[in-house]
Amino acid sequence: MTSEILQADAGTPFPEAEPGHEWWRSAVIYQVYPRSWADSDGDGVGDLPGIISRLPHLVELGVDALWLSPFYVSPQADAGYDVADYRAVDPVFGDLADADELVRRAHELGLRVVVDIVPNHTSDEHEWFRAALAAGPGGPERARYLFRDGLGEHGELPPNSWRSVFGGPAWTRVTEPDGTPGQWYLHLFDVKQPDLDWTNPQVRAEFVSILRFWLDRGADGFRIDVAHGLVKAPGLPEWDHELELLEGSDARFSRPPFWDQEGVHEIYREWHRVAAEYAGDRVLVAEAWVDPPSRIARYVREDELHQSFNFSYLVTPWRADDLRTVVTASLEAMDAVGAPTTWVLSNHDVLRHSTRFGFPPGTKLPNGIGADDPQPDVALGLRRARAATLVMFGLPGSAYVYQGEELGLPEHTTLPDDVRQDPTWVRSANEHRGRDGCRVPIPWEADAPSYGFGPTSATWLPQPEAWRELALDVQRGVPGSTYETYRAALAARREHRLGEGRLQWVDGYPADVLAFRNGDVLVLANTGAAAVALPDGVEVLLASEPLNVADQLPADVTVWARER
Ligand code: GLC
Ligand code: MG
Repeated sequence: MTSEILQADAGTPFPEAEPGHEWWRSAVIYQVYPRSWADSDGDGVGDLPGIISRLPHLVELGVDALWLSPFYVSPQADAGYDVADYRAVDPVFGDLADADELVRRAHELGLRVVVDIVPNHTSDEHEWFRAALAAGPGGPERARYLFRDGLGEHGELPPNSWRSVFGGPAWTRVTEPDGTPGQWYLHLFDVKQPDLDWTNPQVRAEFVSILRFWLDRGADGFRIDVAHGLVKAPGLPEWDHELELLEGSDARFSRPPFWDQEGVHEIYREWHRVAAEYAGDRVLVAEAWVDPPSRIARYVREDELHQSFNFSYLVTPWRADDLRTVVTASLEAMDAVGAPTTWVLSNHDVLRHSTRFGFPPGTKLPNGIGADDPQPDVALGLRRARAATLVMFGLPGSAYVYQGEELGLPEHTTLPDDVRQDPTWVRSANEHRGRDGCRVPIPWEADAPSYGFGPTSATWLPQPEAWRELALDVQRGVPGSTYETYRAALAARREHRLGEGRLQWVDGYPADVLAFRNGDVLVLANTGAAAVALPDGVEVLLASEPLNVADQLPADVTVWARER
């Protein structure tokens, strides 16, 4: 089937807003990681029918949209971020009819659907890469990827010293069709994720066609994977430093020749024009690990993408000073280009924030935590996570929620090493444990097999026993639970239109207290060690923890208040 045939009836039921008031400027967007949200068939891997059955949860929670990590045909070498067919659903997740049904059902419930697109690389099992291997050097098939001859007398050395984000060299040598050792191809990530050559017009045309395929089916937008990586500096100049996982830049070095190159912007200008042809304010979101905020702002200029993840905010410790600095810098940078600021604390690539905050602020944390690593203070981590979440929801702009954070889930920090699936673990020669700990299947029901993740006890990663008491059905309807706190905050955020608001810093509180006004709401977060007195005439609307003494703001608590 071609996209033209399906185009007729898909579309979007949502009205178009006046420029400046598009939904995505203030939306709360919930990230579903399809492998781990809900499993319908009991094979231990989440799937699209499972997601469809759990959509009402998102309505009850009170978010505006969901973003789905990739569900396309994939050998799953990087959990679906290695795509073999961008226009089909992997059988482990369902089929295209399920994807259509998911979009239809979500729209019916008033939820928008953002899908992931992975343009930096394909899977090595993509038909283009297979053709490239079969065709041998020099032909148009290889010109869609970054094949190069090796250095050394017999081409036995990689073309340059670039390193893979997951560890090891970023180049792998192929065997030519005649059986001889041959050229090398670039893969900034896993060996099964060959980088595309974005100077090739065929690559550009193909991705525009893929965008249209999903826009025609009613997708409300795209989250663009590794948006800062598509274009490499001409000549692939030497850059010989180890990369930190997903760290777009490292202040110690100049910008790497494969991140944040000028050429990416022309690609996004074209994508902007494509998205703008469709009704309903479709959104393009950059995943770009680029620093500082002024650099990231260049991705969301008026004729480029609409939003970008605010990773500077994500990595900021729970300290009022640091938070003030990053919030101010983020708002200034985005205001300068007329884009909304986004806020995010967790996703499928980082330690969950309730675990990060369980270590002293500023601790350099490993990429993945194992049983023999220092363990977090779980209770303190959750307390700070809830306080940090209320700060985030109190800020103007758009916010992202990662599945399970509404239950206060911590990272799984004691996963047995032999169940790990993240390619980072193997490629770093067991130095970095990687990201499995934040990808564990969600607990919905305390007394069901796999805590209600699926109909059987099968889960592709084991769930910690302590998650039983964090299951949704344990927290639902319980005032003060993490889940009910999220729900109350999202409802109040909507009621007070905080997403569309403006931030105003408030003076007169101790330095450890972050204090700002957004519309008629005063947000106060105590990041210090001692309780702080709340001034007279302040009426608390919402608190991240029950307040035992009415006029005291305890340590590691955030309140939303009204000034009388
Ligand atoms: C992005 C994804 C991450 C993936 C990588 C390579 O950073 O979020 O999960 O491993 O890209 O596609
Ligand atoms: Mg399944």
